[in-house]
Amino acid sequence: MKVKKAVIPAAGLGTRLLPATKALPKEMLPIIDKPTIQYIIEEATDAGIEDIIIVTGKDKKAIEDHFDSSFLLEQTLKNKGKQDELNQIMNISQMAHIHYIRQSEPKGLGHAIWCARKFIGNEPFAVLLGDILVESNKSCLQEMMGSYSKYRSSIIGVTRVDTADVHRYGIVDIENKQGDMYKIKNLVEKPNKEDAPSNLAIFGRYILTPKIFDLLEVQKPGIGNEIQLTDALSALLHHEDVWAQLYSGKNYDIGEKIGYLKTIIEFALQREDLKHDLKPFIKNLSL
Ligand code: G1P
Repeated sequence: MKVKKAVIPAAGLGTRLLPATKALPKEMLPIIDKPTIQYIIEEATDAGIEDIIIVTGKDKKAIEDHFDSSFLLEQTLKNKGKQDELNQIMNISQMAHIHYIRQSEPKGLGHAIWCARKFIGNEPFAVLLGDILVESNKSCLQEMMGSYSKYRSSIIGVTRVDTADVHRYGIVDIENKQGDMYKIKNLVEKPNKEDAPSNLAIFGRYILTPKIFDLLEVQKPGIGNEIQLTDALSALLHHEDVWAQLYSGKNYDIGEKIGYLKTIIEFALQREDLKHDLKPFIKNLSL
């Protein structure tokens, strides 16, 4: 069965970016002129995903409004002859079939995914974390979907991180290697440097089989007293193979201040309309 549905968990409180995220979900924070979550939806639809469910938290209105049509704005742009802007706005509301579900309590990533079980049903599905952007010129998700068709097992995107940073991620322990694919032996959520089985970190893209929902249903809270997806994936190993796919491109964490700032700078330096002004500006900063 092909992967056609995706879950985007976007229910976190965004505490590391307060006060900006007091009334605005962090996934709506713009990277220059586009909200983070729009890049993620574009990544999903470019890879062939047809239906997306966004698991929202307390403030879903801004996300819903962004992907909905906006009659007043469209009419105004039309009247003013602003065709480019009009096309952009209309494209946003036609990007994909987007659905919403609310995670009523902040019980963790695993619980957020579990909230989407009725929408997903008995199909394999993608998960794209709503605060992580991946380099877009090489579609990591598309490659993972290709691997799913070959392995018919859950596939988790991993990247190598500094040993000093392993405590920020889910870390995989691996056995066999086949090209850029590793068979997973175990997974640990946010281990200490001393206990980490490797430096292969889960960065926020997954293809999962629906068996995960049965396991999430009974998963006990783990680190941070939250229901962790990583723990349920560990339990999945007793039922199915799980593979890690090594991704060597860049990923950006917009959920923290420095990550957010770096993302904006890197994305701006790639843009034709901005890089020519920005480069000399950065060079001239007296650092
Ligand atoms: C989540 C996952 C973790 C993963 C990380 C990637 O943690 O639980 O396994 O490595 O995202 O950003 P969070 O950063 O939401 O605490």
